Amino acid sequence: MKALYIKEKGDYPVYEDFHTPEDNDLVKIKMLGSALNHRDLWIIKAQYAGLRYPIILGSDGVGIHNDRRMIINPSHNWGSDQSHQGAEYKILGLPDNGTMAEYCCLDNKYLYDAPDHLSDAEAAALPLAGLTAYRAMFVKGRGQKGQKVLITGIGGGVALFLLQFAIAEGLEVYVTSGNQDKIQKAIDLGAKAGYNYTDSDWASNFSREEGGVDLVVDGAAGEGFADLLKIVKPGGIIVNYGGTKGKINNLVPQTVFWKQISIIGSTMGSDKDFRDMLDFVTRNKIKPVIDSIHKISDYKNAFDKMDNGTQFGKIVLINN
Ligand SMILES: NC(=O)c1ccc[n+]([C@@H]2O[C@H](COP(=O)([O-])OP(=O)(O)OC[C@H]3O[C@@H](n4cnc5c(N)ncnc54)[C@H](OP(=O)(O)O)[C@@H]3O)[C@@H](O)[C@H]2O)c1
Repeated sequence: MKALYIKEKGDYPVYEDFHTPEDNDLVKIKMLGSALNHRDLWIIKAQYAGLRYPIILGSDGVGIHNDRRMIINPSHNWGSDQSHQGAEYKILGLPDNGTMAEYCCLDNKYLYDAPDHLSDAEAAALPLAGLTAYRAMFVKGRGQKGQKVLITGIGGGVALFLLQFAIAEGLEVYVTSGNQDKIQKAIDLGAKAGYNYTDSDWASNFSREEGGVDLVVDGAAGEGFADLLKIVKPGGIIVNYGGTKGKINNLVPQTVFWKQISIIGSTMGSDKDFRDMLDFVTRNKIKPVIDSIHKISDYKNAFDKMDNGTQFGKIVLINN
């Protein structure tokens, strides 16, 4: 079969022949499409824990099994505790070979009927980012109707699901982005307002114009995280699911404890979270925001787009 894989550490991925997987304990799914996550880019850059080679990229995917269109849950071996994943936890696409291939082998329990209202590309775009957003917003963030929420870096794949889920649930949504066009697109999707995080005064402007928020969901961290403490209300929650901008060196503990802020980490989600997310998406007829659809052989343009940060929504690879 053909697969998109990295041969050795430091190599750029190739789309070439790879042995077709066979495993009697697993089911073999014929892939229709997959989608990029920032994780795939960290793996290409060899900036991810547990690297091994060769490795087929891809956590997201939709494919055909027994004539049914199935969507893949990439969150494997969660364990018994809903509050966090166990020691055996792994994400599809490293250490196990991923979805960017003609075939993918995995445990049947990670296959779910793809929601009928989604196209192949939309179904491919949903799993990893949708799951991460669902848990961060509703399980860890306890977001509920009537609350005000700020979502950072709205151009990102997870961030846009956060926006759609929060609006569907009846929260008032505010966003940040480094790009004015992306802010406008988020407002078109239902956000109340947006602020540019490259403006050093954005947090003070936000506080003056909007007051505080009950919940912040952030995937960036870095120096900008300190601004989030300013705009969350006393007793509010900040959920962090990503570290795109690196370490937080300037956190002021006095602000955290005096405002009684809960800072909570969130990663992916359990099997229950995945089922609940699929139900939520189906019930609310949510369609993922797709930035672009590429043939899998055109993967370089797709990854360049993510690396440049110019995307708005999910970047999808459709099998040729
Ligand atoms: N813990 C988990 O389970 C989990 C799951 C998925 C992703 N992640 C992590 O979460 C992060 C986002 O993942 P993704 O796949 O959604 O990535 P993505 O689609 O590549 O989006 C990254 C986004 O980061 C935003 N950003 C860049 N600089 C920022 C800043 N200074 N402040 C706020 N936002 C900033 C950008 O937003 P604008 O373009 O709007 O400026 C960009 O769109 C990555 O670090 C990823 O590794 C973690």
